[in-house]
Amino acid sequence: MEKILVHGGKTLEGKVRISGSKNSALPILAATLLTKEPCVLQRVPDLSDIHYMLTILGRLGCEVERASGVVRVTAESITTTAPYDIVRKMRASVCILGPLLGREGEATVSLPGGCVIGDRPIDLHLRGFEALGAAVSVKSGNVRVLAQDLHGAEIFLRGKFGSTVLGTDNVMMAAVLAKGTTIIDSAAEEPEVVDLANFLNKMGAKIEGAGTRRIIIEGVKELHGAEHEIIPDRIEAGTFLVAGAIAGKSVTLTRINPRHLEAVVHPLQEAGFLFESGDDFLRILPGNSRKPLHLEAMPYPGFPTDMQAQMCALLATTDGISVVTDHVFPHRFMHASELKRMGANIEMNEGTAVVQGVPKLEGAPVMASDLRASAALVLAGLSAEGITEVNRVYHIDRGYERIDEKLNDLGAEIERVKA
Ligand code: UD1
Repeated sequence: MEKILVHGGKTLEGKVRISGSKNSALPILAATLLTKEPCVLQRVPDLSDIHYMLTILGRLGCEVERASGVVRVTAESITTTAPYDIVRKMRASVCILGPLLGREGEATVSLPGGCVIGDRPIDLHLRGFEALGAAVSVKSGNVRVLAQDLHGAEIFLRGKFGSTVLGTDNVMMAAVLAKGTTIIDSAAEEPEVVDLANFLNKMGAKIEGAGTRRIIIEGVKELHGAEHEIIPDRIEAGTFLVAGAIAGKSVTLTRINPRHLEAVVHPLQEAGFLFESGDDFLRILPGNSRKPLHLEAMPYPGFPTDMQAQMCALLATTDGISVVTDHVFPHRFMHASELKRMGANIEMNEGTAVVQGVPKLEGAPVMASDLRASAALVLAGLSAEGITEVNRVYHIDRGYERIDEKLNDLGAEIERVKA
């Protein structure tokens, strides 16, 4: 096991190149199961979650080749069972259910593991499959979906915490090969859903409305191979913006889509930071003053839950009282207690963090509990006094490509050592 040591107090300056999106690449890799023909994906990030997904595809019988960001998958002949030992490490493995059901009419997938961010049910995914005509059963930790014929249906996919991203992906992937028209109502509007729909359309699917609350899918008989470049990772980009806010003089993100980052840029502007932007870059500069924020994480186009922990790290040293609520994952505040170990003043009040800014954090040994919380701890360490020791680094490697190297290139001093 490894840990990360962040030597605080260094100033960040320069350019950072943002990788392809993890949350786009995972369902898109799963979508390659929908055709026997080869699919080629570019800008696939080098992350442990991607490695797990490629392992799952390999175990299902796919031929997988990978060379520096380009992945080629051929799913000529596949099996439809994914056991616990291969899916347990990553929750997103659940998104192989939709394509397997769509292509083969059946799938058995063990209930997945993944980030510990509260209860993460898949009832909406299963409700969608049932509406398409599948029989769903859950037994001994496995989900089994089975259908003679999938047929189009009108499906309402909103749960008590809003829309579901992977649920929308899963139902969309099952519906592309169903007979007739499927309408997904209250669909997730995230850019990653649009990226998946674009890839499926390149494969011959007929999907309209992705990126809105209503997605219409005209079933087709079969799909063919396609090539696709994964969109930039808006969460990695947002994380580097917050790094720039915490410790930067001038940090420029390149190869990004600034439109996907509006919900992160707006609060940072409100907090006093200045921005310069172009078609595919964004620069964050310190402003004259810093203000506390009231932040509410919501489904896209709202402020992303995946950026909530990193913003807490920034607000921990912002003078005044900030209030942060997460409406998507209300229990996703494991970082609060770790930030408190570094001297932050955070009170939890029924799923809301009340952050009273302190002048400085102090380096301390802290424990990463999930992917974004671990990023928040690294960011907090950038401006903390002394050394912040972040344990359980494997969480961060699930979703950030070489975050320590990229931050060091900007001027940080971060070491990775054996724990
Ligand atoms: C995806 C992202 C994750 C992000 C999340 C919300 C990937 C690989 N992961 O996760 O990084 O934090 O979107 O933007 O893309 N829910 C139900 N029933 C379901 C499914 C979800 O109640 O069947 C609830 C969840 O518990 C949560 C909310 O709906 O409260 C949103 O979850 P969802 O959008 O499904 O998250 P994921 O797609 O798993």
